[in-house]
Amino acid sequence: MKTFLGIALFLITGLLLSFYIGFHFDFSERKLVSDDDQEGIKEQIVIKFSHVVAENTPKGLAARKFADLVDQKSNHKVKVEVFPNGSLYSDKEELHALWEGDVQMIAPATSKLGSISPKWQALDLPFAFPTEAAINEGLDGTIGRTLLSSLNSHNIKGLGFWVNGLKQITNKDHAIISTDDFKGRNFRIMSSSVLKKQFDLLGSQSVPMDFNETYRSLESGEVDGEENTISNIYSKKYYKVQNHMTISNHGFLGYAILINNDYWNSLPRNVQTIIHDAIKETVTWNQKHYISMNKKQLKSIKKESDIQIHTLNAEEKKKWIKKLHPLYQLYEPAAGKKLINEIEHLQHKYQ
Ligand code: LMR
Repeated sequence: MKTFLGIALFLITGLLLSFYIGFHFDFSERKLVSDDDQEGIKEQIVIKFSHVVAENTPKGLAARKFADLVDQKSNHKVKVEVFPNGSLYSDKEELHALWEGDVQMIAPATSKLGSISPKWQALDLPFAFPTEAAINEGLDGTIGRTLLSSLNSHNIKGLGFWVNGLKQITNKDHAIISTDDFKGRNFRIMSSSVLKKQFDLLGSQSVPMDFNETYRSLESGEVDGEENTISNIYSKKYYKVQNHMTISNHGFLGYAILINNDYWNSLPRNVQTIIHDAIKETVTWNQKHYISMNKKQLKSIKKESDIQIHTLNAEEKKKWIKKLHPLYQLYEPAAGKKLINEIEHLQHKYQ
């Protein structure tokens, strides 16, 4: 009798349980989510992120923060491995490494994208952004969206932008104050058609060179000078091998955060959401901090070296802007009238 009761109880419990599961579980929705979680548990997802700058820079710190956020948000199931200082790939190599799938994410300077998608040349135009507020508005708005979507046809998904700041000029021989002071000098540049033309207009030679080769070339005198943000000039110690710096704020340096599109499409939806959210947070964080980082490092440069620093006054700056303005017309066909108009609109708004 006891055995019979036991069997009956067992069958009734089993029946009730299966009814409960049948009515209370939405298999179509939840099963998907729980599968993704299972995948994550079985196999950790590792995303290699390569970049060329030092860690104590706006990009270096944003990349580190991004990795930490993804780790937290995914409960340690998605690991972003950050390779700074070009330790994995140089500027020349990183785009190909992304296409080949050797690395899943990179954040190159926007100047390095003009060769695959000419619209990006708009951001290299001299004095494109008069202030940091103009940069943020431009990248968060139509300019940023147009540029990121132009990469879709190259199997690249653009996730957003981090900013380093505005570029300054360094030089070993003499102060560069008027545009005539550029004549006969040679400058290291990023590989960019606009930057080459900029120095052509100023009567200088320009030498396209990888970021991590620049210090050696400045030190050996192979090039007389270069243009970069304070944070790169400081973290790569250019100020130790240059005697003059002009605070000109004449050019923009920022980064497109990129992921291989096939790889992106292969990721579970919840991992894509984690990446999107982490990028959004780092973009806001970067916008809050890049200005103060550059300011702090300018103070350190002044403290740690005898480099002569000249800040362009309004009159001097006006002359530079006028001298370099023909580049806007020259690059309008490549960058597109719409983007140039957007940039000019921001210039009027923030000047
Ligand atoms: C440079 O090559 O000067 C910069 O693009 C380096 C960087 O990524 O900030």
